[in-house]
Amino acid sequence: MDSKFVLKFFLPISIMLLLSGSADAQGLKVGFYKKTCPNAETIVYNEMKRVISVAPSLAGPLLRLFFHDCFVRGCDASILLNSTKNNVAEKESPINLSLRGYGVIDTIKAKLEKACPGIVSCADITALVARDAVYLSKGPSWEVPTGRRDGRASLIAETRQLPAPIFTFQQLKASFAQKGLSVKDLVVLSGGHTLGTSQCSFFSPRLYNFTGKGDADPSLDSEYVIKLKNKCKPTDTTKLAEMDPGSFLSFDTDYYKIVSKRRGLFSTDSALLQDAETRSYVQRQVKASNPREFFKDFGVSMVNMGNTGVLIGKQGEIRKNCAVVN
Ligand code: HEM
Repeated sequence: MDSKFVLKFFLPISIMLLLSGSADAQGLKVGFYKKTCPNAETIVYNEMKRVISVAPSLAGPLLRLFFHDCFVRGCDASILLNSTKNNVAEKESPINLSLRGYGVIDTIKAKLEKACPGIVSCADITALVARDAVYLSKGPSWEVPTGRRDGRASLIAETRQLPAPIFTFQQLKASFAQKGLSVKDLVVLSGGHTLGTSQCSFFSPRLYNFTGKGDADPSLDSEYVIKLKNKCKPTDTTKLAEMDPGSFLSFDTDYYKIVSKRRGLFSTDSALLQDAETRSYVQRQVKASNPREFFKDFGVSMVNMGNTGVLIGKQGEIRKNCAVVN
């Protein structure tokens, strides 16, 4: 065949096929374990189904675990590593002390090691668990590109990269942009706060001493402040408040209703009303007759977040035990 002909016709087509395949820019792909561990995703799902049926309140923490993994050193399961003699790990940072669900990941990892030793990374398990946690809480499902490898480091100091609940909109936007995530990802992923609870300590300053004069945050609904004060006394720290009261176990669009009523627990929730793009997203979900747009967007933004700083190919390792490096 004439080489010019090959260049003109076959090269563009093969490039197009490559681009339209399931591999994405980060080198992850849907069905990465299809040949090496065909039941991997079923094993994760079956265990998650069992866990959520007996402990539905673990769905929130397991979703949050993935976010906290991805925002520090990328989605490399660094959040799962224990501290060692010479190093204090991410887990021990104040912002991570309330994370739960490590045991679920360990159980799933043990089952996967039995089925296909040394194949499925802890980073991928964390991503699949987050997806299944949402789905099993009546939320959407989506295809999770896999092929992440596990990192070998976890440093407490790096948890500074996680956005704080007192961030302004500009700080939030910058924090997401640093991870390659857009303002749309920010407003969509914040919708994860439809699940789970928060310790009083994370929002109490908004109730009791916002500007140092014993006042409440004016961006919070004043009637809601009274309710929250009943729930959280100034000395309560680890007491829990539902973020989406009444339906904190089900994944739905309620978060946006709460934000629009100025009842989001964190300054970062209220901040979504300050920017035109995020405000219009919030308002659209409040008016929507069904969760279709949010559900579709959530899957897309979770895949985006799941691409953050991933290790692939020969980078990192496949840990045998998610809490320690090999
Ligand atoms: C936008 C910046 C964000 C901030 C400042 C933030 C902050 C927080 C804080 C302070 C808590 C309470 C933690 C506790 O008391 O244990 C929390 C809980 C939670 N967050 Fe976020 N978050 C953010 C984004 C996200 C994202 C992107 C997700 C996932 C898509 C997420 C999912 C959750 C979930 C599910 C909980 C409930 C955890 C539980 O029930 O234990 N958050 N968040």
